[in-house]
Amino acid sequence: MPSQSKFEGIDFSQLPVEPLTPELLSLGQGFRCVRGEFVTYWKQGRIQRESDANVCNCWILRVDDALVGYITLLADKLQVENPLLAAEGVKYQTFPAIKIGLLAVDRRAKGAGKYLVEWAIDYVAAALVPMVGVRFVTVDALYDRDTDPAYDASGFYTKLGFEFVDPNESLPPETPYRTMYYDLKPVIEL
Ligand SMILES: CC(C)(COP(=O)(O)OP(=O)(O)OC[C@H]1O[C@@H](n2cnc3c(N)ncnc32)[C@H](O)[C@@H]1OP(=O)(O)O)[C@@H](O)C(=O)NCCC(=O)NCCS
Repeated sequence: MPSQSKFEGIDFSQLPVEPLTPELLSLGQGFRCVRGEFVTYWKQGRIQRESDANVCNCWILRVDDALVGYITLLADKLQVENPLLAAEGVKYQTFPAIKIGLLAVDRRAKGAGKYLVEWAIDYVAAALVPMVGVRFVTVDALYDRDTDPAYDASGFYTKLGFEFVDPNESLPPETPYRTMYYDLKPVIEL
């Protein structure tokens, strides 16, 4: 099968996002990602170990036995210089958040990444916000200065409405990522 056609014509938004269970770990044999380390994280059990240790929870998207992508979520604390909620009478500079830990999709599954992030935002707003204080979704968007050009995932998150914690950060960043956040309030109010 030509590699481009593996997921051709599939509307990912019609697929259920499923919690990772032991039976689903055997998926992923043919998983290909633009960043090979994300294949390794899956195949060498990092995600399973972290899920088992309750350090994250993982959800997946699949077409039959083919892994389309995965996303992990974990508790986080957003720390900012600017008291983001001052207009609401809340002057903190740290806020409860849920972090997107690892996100990867098969490189032949364009559009699946956006769907998984939008699903995560809706899930946090619908399932977690009623249970516990959480206002933001955060992510450390991967930035790899050692590729040419540099690999920068932040553009993907910017398109989805995420903002930089430090918009004036000089590039390349000191860390191999740029921290970003998404305000859940508009989604919650919907
Ligand atoms: C980042 C990743 C999840 C994006 O998934 P995807 O399915 O390819 O992305 P989508 O097709 O849903 O992209 C949505 C939009 O973002 C854009 N986009 C995707 N990656 C981008 C990037 N690195 N920079 C800028 N824009 C990007 C797409 O062109 C698309 O734009 P459009 O709506 O104008 O057409 C995927 O490329 C991936 O698995 N990368 C390797 C692992 C990784 O970097 N994970 C994130 C770590 S924080």
